[in-house]
Amino acid sequence: MSPTVCSCLNVSEAEVETAISAGARTVAEVGERCEAGTGCQSCHAGIRILLEAQARRDLAAGRAPSTLHQLSLFELAAGRTPSPAGSHRPRPKKPGGR
Ligand code: FES
Repeated sequence: MSPTVCSCLNVSEAEVETAISAGARTVAEVGERCEAGTGCQSCHAGIRILLEAQARRDLAAGRAPSTLHQLSLFELAAGRTPSPAGSHRPRPKKPGGR
């Protein structure tokens, strides 16, 4: 059984991957095809990771990744998987700054 990606709409990872295989290239397009991410939107980071995985599979197979716009050039160059949205640390405030 495939894990659930979107709990609001009860959409599994397999259903999102099917949407991507069928041509969805953005989080919005995934939502149009299987409704994942059309509720509270907290699953968007997970959907983006699946889109990025498709781009990496395309690159590994020597194809121009159709979901390349999901990957930043820095992440591609560094071979890194991006962190989920909102997981970065905030910048420390400058002393005396606002
Ligand atoms: S968990 Fe996907 S829209 Fe809420």
